[in-house]
Amino acid sequence: MSPALDLDDIAIRFGGVQALDGVKISIEAGEFVGLIGPNGAGKTTLIRIIAGAVNPDRGRVVLGGRDVTSASTAFRVRRGLTLTHQIVRPFREMTVLDNVVLAAGYRRTSNPLRALLSLDRRGESERAAVILARVGLGGTEGKLAGSLPLGQMKRLEVARALAVDPQVILFDEPLAGLNQAEAARQAETIGEVHSNGVTVVLVEHNLEAVMRVSRRLVVLNDGRVIGDGAPSAVVADRLVREAYIGTGAATYAER
Ligand SMILES: Nc1ncnc2c1ncn2[C@@H]1O[C@H](COP(=O)(O)OP(=O)(O)O)[C@@H](O)[C@H]1O
Ligand SMILES: [Mg+2]
Repeated sequence: MSPALDLDDIAIRFGGVQALDGVKISIEAGEFVGLIGPNGAGKTTLIRIIAGAVNPDRGRVVLGGRDVTSASTAFRVRRGLTLTHQIVRPFREMTVLDNVVLAAGYRRTSNPLRALLSLDRRGESERAAVILARVGLGGTEGKLAGSLPLGQMKRLEVARALAVDPQVILFDEPLAGLNQAEAARQAETIGEVHSNGVTVVLVEHNLEAVMRVSRRLVVLNDGRVIGDGAPSAVVADRLVREAYIGTGAATYAER
C-alpha cells in the first residue's frame, strides 16, 4: 500500500532564504507524527506546501499514492487532506455552527457560496453540532465565531478541519497561546481524532506535549530534516539537541 503522505525532495526559496531544502518524509496511514524545530525552521512552509497553499520549487507531494504537487487545495481536501492554521481564521461574523457547516461544504465544492447553497442544511447542521460537541464546543453553536476566546477559537479550527471528514490532518501549532488546561484539553481532542483512524501531523512548539502524544518525531532545522524516529531517540540525538539549545529540547533531554 502506498503511504498516506509522501514528501520527496521538497525545496523552496524565499528571496535569500532557503526555507526548505531536500525534505523527504514518508508517512503511513494511521501514523501520529510530531513535526518540531526552532522558529523559522520551515515547519509552516512545509505544511502550506503539503496543503497546496504554496508551490515548491522542487520535489513532489504524493497523497495516498497520487501526485498532487500541482493540484489545488480544494482537490487535496477532496482527497482527504486538511489543515488547521497557526493563526486561526474563522469567519468571524458567522456563527460557530455555520463556520463548521461551511467547512463541511468544501467536501463538494471549493466555492463557499455554492457550498452553502448546495447544502442539505438540516443534515449538515446536525452533523456540525456533533463535531462541535466532539471538540468541546457544545453550547456555543449560536455565538459569533469572532466573539470566542482564543482557546475556543483554536478548537473551532479543529472542528472545521474535522468537518471535511479527513484522512490526514495537518495541525499547525494548535496548542500555541493556550493555557495549560486548554492545551491539555486540545491535545486530548487531537489524540481522539487520531484514535478514530485519522493520520496526524502535529507541528508544535511545546516539546513535552508533542512527545507525549507522538509516536514519531521529525525535526526540521534550517529547512532540512535533522532527525526522524522514535521521540525518545530523536531528542537524545546530539544534532537535535544542538539545534534546540536554549529552547525546550535540551532541557527535556537533560531531565
Ligand atoms: N511567504 C514568505 N516570504 C518570505 N519568507 C518566508 C515566507 N514564508 C516563510 N518565510 C521564511 O521561511 C523560513 C521558514 O519559515 P516558517 O516556515 O514560517 O518557519 P516555522 O513555521 O518553522 O517557524 C523563515 O526564514 C521565514 O522567514
Ligand atoms: Mg510556524
